Amino acid sequence: MPTIVLANPKGGCGKSTTALILGQILAREVPTAIIDADPNQPISTWAAAGCSPDNLMVIRNQSVETLLDEIDEASDTHKFVIVDLEGVASRALSYAVTRAHLTIIPMQKSRPDADMAGKAIRAIRIEEKARRARIPFAIAFTKTRVVAESKTAQRIATDVRSTGLDIVGVELHQRDAFAAIFDLGCTLFALDPKRVNNIDAAINNAEMFTGDLVTRFMKTVRSAAA
Ligand SMILES: Nc1ncnc2c1ncn2[C@@H]1O[C@H](COP(=O)(O)OP(=O)(O)OP(=O)(O)O)[C@@H](O)[C@H]1O
Ligand SMILES: [Mg+2]
Repeated sequence: MPTIVLANPKGGCGKSTTALILGQILAREVPTAIIDADPNQPISTWAAAGCSPDNLMVIRNQSVETLLDEIDEASDTHKFVIVDLEGVASRALSYAVTRAHLTIIPMQKSRPDADMAGKAIRAIRIEEKARRARIPFAIAFTKTRVVAESKTAQRIATDVRSTGLDIVGVELHQRDAFAAIFDLGCTLFALDPKRVNNIDAAINNAEMFTGDLVTRFMKTVRSAAA
C-alpha cells in the first residue's frame, strides 16, 4: 500500500504538519498509519492527547534498525503509510526513501529551505544509484501565503520550478488551523471556530493537497497495470 515519506533535513519546514494533515484527511476514508520517526516524537505526543481517530494509527519508531520493518508491517494493515522524519540528513532518511512510493520534500519559499531541499534530493539520488532504481519524489511548497506573496518567495518558487523537478500542484498554506492541531491536540475537524480562524479554508486546502497526491498514486497504479 502506498507509503509517503516526508523528508527535508531543514528543521521547521513543515514535515510533521504535512504528515499529520495527510493522515487526518486520508483516515476519513481508509485505515492510515503514521510512523513517527522523529526522536522528538511530535506526532506521538499529539496522539497521546487521545485525539487520534480510530482509522489513524500512530506508530512510534523504535530505532533506525527497525524502521523498515515498521514500514512493512504497517503497509500490511493500512491503505496508506506516512513516515515523518527528523529534520536532519540521517540514515533513517536514506532507509525510508527506499520504501516510499512517493517522498514529499516540504519546503517554504525561502533560500535556506531550497538549499536543504537540494540536500534531501542529493541523498535520494545516492540511494537511487545504490539501488539502481528510481525513487519518486516531489517538492511541496508549505506555509505559503494565501495573498500578497513576497517578491523573494515568488523568485524562489520560480527558481525551483525552473529546475523541472516534480512539484505538488497544490501548496499547503500558512493557516492558523494547521498550527492549532498540534497546539490544541486535536484533528482539523474537531477545531473550535471560536478559537481558530478560517477552519473551513484550511480543511479545503488540506483536502485539495491530499487529493493531488492520491491522484498521483492512481496514475502510478494505472500505468503499472497498462
Ligand atoms: N501550513 C502551516 N500553517 C501554519 N503553521 C505551520 C504550517 N506548517 C508548519 N507550521 C508550523 O511551523 C512549525 C514547524 O512545523 P513542523 O513541526 O511541521 O516542521 P518540521 O519540518 O516537522 O520540523 P522538524 O524538522 O523540527 O521536525 C510548527 O510550529 C508548525 O505548527
Ligand atoms: Mg517534524
